[in-house]
Amino acid sequence: MKNNKKNKSGKVNLNGTILITGGSGYIGSHTIIEMLENTSFDVVSIDNQSNSSTKTYKRIEKITGRKVVNYSIDLCDKEKTEKVFKKHKFVGIIHFAAFKMVGESVEQPLKYYRNNILSLINILELANKYGVPNFIFSSSCSVYGNVAKLPVNESTPIGNAESPYAHTKQIGEKIISDFCAVNKNINAIALRYFNPVGAHLSGLNGEDPINKPNNLVPIITATAAGKLPKLTIHGNDYPTRDGTCIRDYIHVSDIGDAHILALEFLLNKKNKQNYCVYNLGSGNGVSVLEIIKAFEKVAGMKLNYGFGERRAGDVVSIYSDSAKALKDFGWKPKLSIEEMMTSAWKWEQNKNKS
Ligand code: UD1
Repeated sequence: MKNNKKNKSGKVNLNGTILITGGSGYIGSHTIIEMLENTSFDVVSIDNQSNSSTKTYKRIEKITGRKVVNYSIDLCDKEKTEKVFKKHKFVGIIHFAAFKMVGESVEQPLKYYRNNILSLINILELANKYGVPNFIFSSSCSVYGNVAKLPVNESTPIGNAESPYAHTKQIGEKIISDFCAVNKNINAIALRYFNPVGAHLSGLNGEDPINKPNNLVPIITATAAGKLPKLTIHGNDYPTRDGTCIRDYIHVSDIGDAHILALEFLLNKKNKQNYCVYNLGSGNGVSVLEIIKAFEKVAGMKLNYGFGERRAGDVVSIYSDSAKALKDFGWKPKLSIEEMMTSAWKWEQNKNKS
């Protein structure tokens, strides 16, 4: 059955083992599900479980009927990581593993620089040593900083990083670009995500951090479920249509899909340069208040929220022009804001049962 699976790009039937770092995390796990459901690739994951549990792999198996080999290893430990490269031959790496809390990164910058940069360097050195030819990096729209002109496309200049988290993504991209300039045998893509939200449409997998939820949508659903007393909107005095920040929310399964298309694009040798960047967003700018309203509509309830201070490290407004990903590897998001909210809410209600 496995070999009959059609690949996402529908072109060449691609096989092989893909290393996914951060495979039990939010975007990593949804990407694995898309990959196992829709392609013939096998997956090996490395995750230090610092913010996610190995239970995620059981959920992936329940949804896809396929197994993921996981190593609970910290990528900053190069010796242990190298053992995985000795054991498996990879055709590609998707590097998700990183710390991602904007506010925490402002408070603990060195934690972010050490983890996000060292792990990237280790994984690139090992990719080079073991001849892994394809590399995809989780970047972020935060590399643009506060921009004058919206929407942003890949020609928009990199701005001032508003947080150490954003700075680690800027540095990460530069490291990969410099590395690819001298290692022509490696092909790399950085995917700049806007704001991934939602859960697998089955409601059987979703964001499940060990630490307190930090992003808007998991905080909305946890508040609605009575697990948090109240949601605080960080600032309502921004120069936007309703005073709250504007973001480009995109369903996490659409983001997962993009990784597979990008990987197949590299494996089919369609890339003109050996390092390129792509935006992944819906193109719609939505305010915090509008997201809350969308949630209230699908859940049929009023959310308990109020207004607080601005959060350090936040940009005012950002949304994407993602035409390049459509043109080069045929990616466009399929799921609506309603589907993002419905799936997130379904997951919130299911997650303690899983
Ligand atoms: C940022 C990055 C994004 C990255 C993510 C990882 C930018 C523009 N985007 O998302 O690319 O994937 O970090 O964590 O930097 N909010 C509240 N109350 C809350 C929580 C959030 O009002 O309790 C507001 C925030 O102030 C922000 C919006 O909701 O305006 C979205 O916040 P969040 O979900 O944390 O994501 P970003 O920080 O935008």
